[in-house]
Amino acid sequence: MAVGVFDSGLGGLTVLSALEKRLPDVPFVYFGDNANTPYGVRDADDIFALTCTGVERLWDEGCDLVILACNTASAAALRRMQESWVPEGKRVLGVFVPLIEALTERQWGDNSPPREVAIKHVALFATPATVQSRAFQRELAFRAIGVDVEAQPCGGVVDAIEEGDMILAEALVHSHVAALKRRMPRPDAAVLGCTHYPLMEEAFRAALGPEVAVYSQPDLVAASLEDYLMRHPDMRGADGENAYLTTGDPVAVGHKATWFLRRKIDFRPA
Ligand code: DGL
Repeated sequence: MAVGVFDSGLGGLTVLSALEKRLPDVPFVYFGDNANTPYGVRDADDIFALTCTGVERLWDEGCDLVILACNTASAAALRRMQESWVPEGKRVLGVFVPLIEALTERQWGDNSPPREVAIKHVALFATPATVQSRAFQRELAFRAIGVDVEAQPCGGVVDAIEEGDMILAEALVHSHVAALKRRMPRPDAAVLGCTHYPLMEEAFRAALGPEVAVYSQPDLVAASLEDYLMRHPDMRGADGENAYLTTGDPVAVGHKATWFLRRKIDFRPA
């Protein structure tokens, strides 16, 4: 048994990398749906169907617990999956909740009523589908009051990253930050609400300026999973090697992944 990590493509590797570092004894199986990326421009039914297919593939690999290391899938499909699709004995968790718990200064899993928090103006950068779902605002409203959220759909950034065109990705980040700042000139915090964006974190920080606190998911998701596995040790994988699956071309995806993470990663066909 291992813990499954799902993404539409390469972005979830930023989360996987933090998970492997924090939980070196837990085996992970990664699934990248590179043949169907990006999800961020698809409609909710499409994202739901693709995410369910990927998660079932991870269940076939023995992963009873799957982390959706994809905000777009977490935003557009997770609630529906949990309410109507995930069978007894399996768990699917998303990446929004750990991020929002950190932003609202809560302990992991603290479900107490919403309260006032220090942060008042939040800039959210995410895919068009995530922004359209308003899932971030909904999860935030369960935990905090009086926070103003301005969301920027960052069209094109995921495509540029998947194609390895980091110059284009950087130019797009600067223009999306400028667009957001026209509507919210002084955010206290910025949320990188797509797991591809940590690969562009420096560009976001440079465009936002030093006074904006940047919240990025990989380390937060890893800390929260460690806490979850302590409370649910039965979901912790026993042994086994890490594995990397893709619906795309395993050689091409492996090259890009190796380049992004600066270590050799071999993918096999999903
Ligand atoms: N990395 C994903 C996310 O966190 C997916 C982006 C996409 O496929 O558009 O939203």
